[in-house]
Amino acid sequence: MKAISANRRSLLTLAAAAALLPRRVLAFNVPSYAVAKPGQLAPSDAPPHVIVAGTSEPGPRMAVQGRVTDGKNPVRGASIFVYHTDANGRYDPNEPRPGEGADNARLRGFMRSDAKGGYSFESIRPAPYPTTTLPEHVHYVVLAEGFKEDRVLEFWFADDPLIQPPQREGQARFPDYFYISEPMQDTHGIWHITHDIVLERA
Ligand SMILES: [Fe+2]
Repeated sequence: MKAISANRRSLLTLAAAAALLPRRVLAFNVPSYAVAKPGQLAPSDAPPHVIVAGTSEPGPRMAVQGRVTDGKNPVRGASIFVYHTDANGRYDPNEPRPGEGADNARLRGFMRSDAKGGYSFESIRPAPYPTTTLPEHVHYVVLAEGFKEDRVLEFWFADDPLIQPPQREGQARFPDYFYISEPMQDTHGIWHITHDIVLERA
């Protein structure tokens, strides 16, 4: 009994101490991949438009475009790195388990935003990881001089049945790390997606 009450006391002490901590200190468990890795910065002369996957790549075609701004004005020269899975849900055909080939993704592209902050790329719509229930997604790493790294690390697709209601309603644990895009299909079957990026000054 003595040990239990001691444990209880220490728990109460911990809880009281936690309540006194500033909120940002308690905001632990931010996705660890929020920090860009080596090799994820676009060359300074990268174009604003790239082809991530050509027309010979299996899967429904997708055209993505958007603008990088500070919330008002365009951000020119922002580095935009995108990568995603193929039509089988694989980053790398040799990855041992779903999602594990992300650092060596076959379908990837590097861009620099133009004078209007614009960027675009053509690819295929990625398939979700096989054997998991994670929604299909496109990864982004966006960096610009004088700005913090963009916290929106992925966009998802609103028509994806794998998206759960709390995620759709912005109640997920990290609601700011993904953006749910509204894909529109044209008469040629190409999916069009707009993904604008708002950077916060450092
Ligand atoms: Fe992923």
